Amino acid sequence: AAPLYLDCDTGVDDSLALGYLLASPEIDLVGVGSVSGNVGARQGAVNTLDLLALAGRDDVPVAVGAHDPVAGGYDGGVPHIHGRNGVGDVILPPSGRAPEDGSAVELLLRLSHEHAGRLRVVAVGPLTNLALALRADPTLPERVRDLTVMGGAALHPGNVSPVGEANIANDPEAAATVLEADWDVTLVPLDVTMANLLEETDRKALLEAGTALAPWLGEVLDLYFGFHVPTFGRRCSALHDPLAAAIAVGGVTPTVAPRVPVVVDVTDGPGRGQTLCDLRGRYAGYPDVPGARTRVVLATDAPLAPHLVERLRTL
Ligand code: BDR
Ligand code: CA
Repeated sequence: AAPLYLDCDTGVDDSLALGYLLASPEIDLVGVGSVSGNVGARQGAVNTLDLLALAGRDDVPVAVGAHDPVAGGYDGGVPHIHGRNGVGDVILPPSGRAPEDGSAVELLLRLSHEHAGRLRVVAVGPLTNLALALRADPTLPERVRDLTVMGGAALHPGNVSPVGEANIANDPEAAATVLEADWDVTLVPLDVTMANLLEETDRKALLEAGTALAPWLGEVLDLYFGFHVPTFGRRCSALHDPLAAAIAVGGVTPTVAPRVPVVVDVTDGPGRGQTLCDLRGRYAGYPDVPGARTRVVLATDAPLAPHLVERLRTL
């Protein structure tokens, strides 16, 4: 199984991504770093530790990452979406385990040496830790097989501003640094994550799984389901982070995913945090642009929900 490092701001859909990766035999989760986003980095690590303990995976190292974005301060998260504690205000059984002594940046760099050339990276929060790791060691991409990022919006509106998606807009400078670096990047934007929904029947299947972790995930989803009512007209949830995880693992296959130039707007205007994906003039499908590094996923072969629920129900 391929070694995989997850960087996340755990977070309701981050919890689903974590569970999905734990249930995926194709990969071996070798470390998780936290970053401020949905909640502060420390709380995100606590949530990750609690979820890992429920899954019986106290062997996976968890490290606290950056509290503040590369430029500016942390805005305090989104309690109305992910709860004050990040996991929908559900009180998970505490793991009793402490995070690693070193930071998430140190964990990522260490794993990149231990698994040089093989390490896969999935990032489903703001890209602060990855940018700091690049700053500390610009040779990092040489040791990473590929990087999958949940973030941005190509042809879709933003979700924290008219054009800004949360993971990118919460730290645009970091996102720009990461997308400028020389690694094999797949961007999984709102265009596809908003088209993959989890329904009440799916949540019920998790609640009734009769396993150690899945029913807790069903509980954690309750508040998040409510948040999506104004957008979709019913209780349900977009599957942002688990879709990125599934694309990285190969459980879902991109069908339209051209490599195109992507620029992150780091100005202070209304476009701050936008991912400008250059899809100009390619009306006969979306072929790769020569020299472009970032693969932008615009469509996938199958809905994620049934596959996700099937895997999560084993935990
Ligand atoms: C992204 O922002 C976070 O709130 C979610 O966990 C996801 O990673 C969606 O824009
Ligand atoms: Ca996230």
